[in-house]
Amino acid sequence: MEIQSCIEVKSEWDIVSARQSGRLMAKEMGYGDVDQARIATAISELARNIYLYAKTGEIHISLVEEGGKRGLQVIARDHGPGISNIRQVMQDGYTTSGGLGAGLPGVKRLMDCFTIESKVGAGTEIIAIKWLR
Ligand SMILES: Nc1ncnc2c1ncn2[C@@H]1O[C@H](COP(=O)(O)OP(=O)(O)OP(=O)(O)O)[C@@H](O)[C@H]1O
Ligand SMILES: [Mg+2]
Repeated sequence: MEIQSCIEVKSEWDIVSARQSGRLMAKEMGYGDVDQARIATAISELARNIYLYAKTGEIHISLVEEGGKRGLQVIARDHGPGISNIRQVMQDGYTTSGGLGAGLPGVKRLMDCFTIESKVGAGTEIIAIKWLR
């Protein structure tokens, strides 16, 4: 199995399929059940945000290597409305949709690295990595 995949997010089904491919790739790379679940949950939160706030976008999942370490990298990219205050959206409970506001802070906790780049009116790119131990 190739540890590289790009899923276009256009419907709720794509959220499910992104989640499933992430879990499969994590399993293939040797992550344990708990880390597989963490990675799958993070992917599904990012895909759900794309679907809800940007309507469409993509999730790229790939193997990354850095200084002898292997990891699974998830890039969530969209050309939606963007995020004006990144610090605010990273607070537990902050939501503009009546959700729980737990998605992004949750993804940050579930993964080892987490970065957001966003420009209002242009879109959002979130990169998250889980290292294999
Ligand atoms: N891709 C995105 N584009 C634009 N805004 C976003 C995007 N992702 C998140 N946001 C904004 O960040 C806020 C917080 O996102 P987060 O996922 O943490 O919570 P939520 O989606 O509101 O609720 P939950 O994920 O708990 O159901 C969202 O309410 C939304 O305003
Ligand atoms: Mg969310």
